[in-house]
Amino acid sequence: MNARVGVIGTGYVGLSTGVCMAHLGHDVVCVDLDAAKIEKLQRGQATIVEHRLDELLFEGMEAGRLRFTTDAATAVADRDVVFLCVQTPQGDDGAADMRHVHAALAGLEPHLKAGAVVVNKSTVPVGSARSMTRTLTRTDIRIASNPEFLREGTAIDDFLSPDRVVVGCDDLAAAEKVAALYAPLGATTLITGPETSETIKYAANAFLATKLSFVNAIATLCEQVGADMVDVAKGMGYDRRIGADFLKPGPGWGGSCFPKDSRALVHIADQHGYSFDLLRSVIESNDQQFDRMAAKVRSAAGGSLHGVTVAVWGLTFKAGTDDLRDSPSLEIVQRLQADGAIIRAYDPTVTGPRPGLPDGIQCCETSVQACDGAAVLAVLTEWPTFTRVRPDDVAAVMPGRTIVDGRNLLDREAWTHAGFRHLGVGR
Ligand code: UGA
Repeated sequence: MNARVGVIGTGYVGLSTGVCMAHLGHDVVCVDLDAAKIEKLQRGQATIVEHRLDELLFEGMEAGRLRFTTDAATAVADRDVVFLCVQTPQGDDGAADMRHVHAALAGLEPHLKAGAVVVNKSTVPVGSARSMTRTLTRTDIRIASNPEFLREGTAIDDFLSPDRVVVGCDDLAAAEKVAALYAPLGATTLITGPETSETIKYAANAFLATKLSFVNAIATLCEQVGADMVDVAKGMGYDRRIGADFLKPGPGWGGSCFPKDSRALVHIADQHGYSFDLLRSVIESNDQQFDRMAAKVRSAAGGSLHGVTVAVWGLTFKAGTDDLRDSPSLEIVQRLQADGAIIRAYDPTVTGPRPGLPDGIQCCETSVQACDGAAVLAVLTEWPTFTRVRPDDVAAVMPGRTIVDGRNLLDREAWTHAGFRHLGVGR
């Protein structure tokens, strides 16, 4: 059955949720305080880089099922379900900062339709749905948790083909109302209490981060013992209990979620008297991976980076997004800069200075241009376009002959054939 849905916040999560809910046939209003953003969306222009977003934006607006406004009060007045998708940045102590969530809820409460369900989509500390319920003065409103499991770059496909839908609420009718929104997807659905649902989100992200830190540690061991991590990952992944996904070694994990959520989970555990040492060392091991990658580049340059030009391919935290937040590439770049390296970078989505980009990076227009005068090339994001660069074109402009391939992306044989030394991860 089609419902009237409100979405508060049009960042990655909010916008993906809004367009997908409209795609499922619901009537959707998306709200944001940022008037410039809303105007752009009203013109049908996406405000983030996300595969299939333009298509679903067009489809929803064309069908009259998707609207954008800055007027939250009017927007929520007839909504059955309102998703809160506002940011929960990390506070100084590692805990998620709930200020925006509380402010949004307080602002909406007087205007909500009778019996509306307000849903936390943002990742919020365990116990949030319950503590938010306590702040309400109205007794007809229910707060539910419905965590998102969307990866940037494939958020739309992840939303429309979910591994599961999780809804947490003590009021079964309210939980079922939220779960019913996803019914057209025919997905496995788990209805739980709010604390359980909130914990599932943190546990899933922390487990994936743990898997990656483990994989990167095994990759380091592979380099010491002469094993090949690519085949080790295959051999592990065929075991269905382990699974073949998320076994790629890399420069370390990053992005707007894993670092923030793993630190927040350590904090939540501390608050409840449990010292989550395992997760602490997973985070520490990731920092060591950044150090190891920087050390690899330093050693490829002959031991010192002072005044040495390093070409960097890829600045975003992974391919398929323009997001620089907590990017492993930038972690490594900053370590190289601290050692005196001159960075020439190419990333298909980063053309020049912008918020979040460290100073002193020369952004180039092509992959080959970034290699001009470089002693070492470091591949730090797995953009497919890098695999199409011809080794001879790089050889013509780059005096150095070593590539530190932090993603095992390039065709080792082709580059070696062209005279390059190719250093991968775990190989
Ligand atoms: C992650 C989760 O995968 C989503 O399920 C979750 O909903 C989301 O966080 C969130 O909490 O909102 P995302 O941050 O978009 O999604 O990124 P991932 O694709 O999971 O990648 C995270 C990091 O792990 C990246 O730095 C990536 O390069 C790295 N990674 C991933 C590897 O190094 N190797 C792999 O095999 C996979």
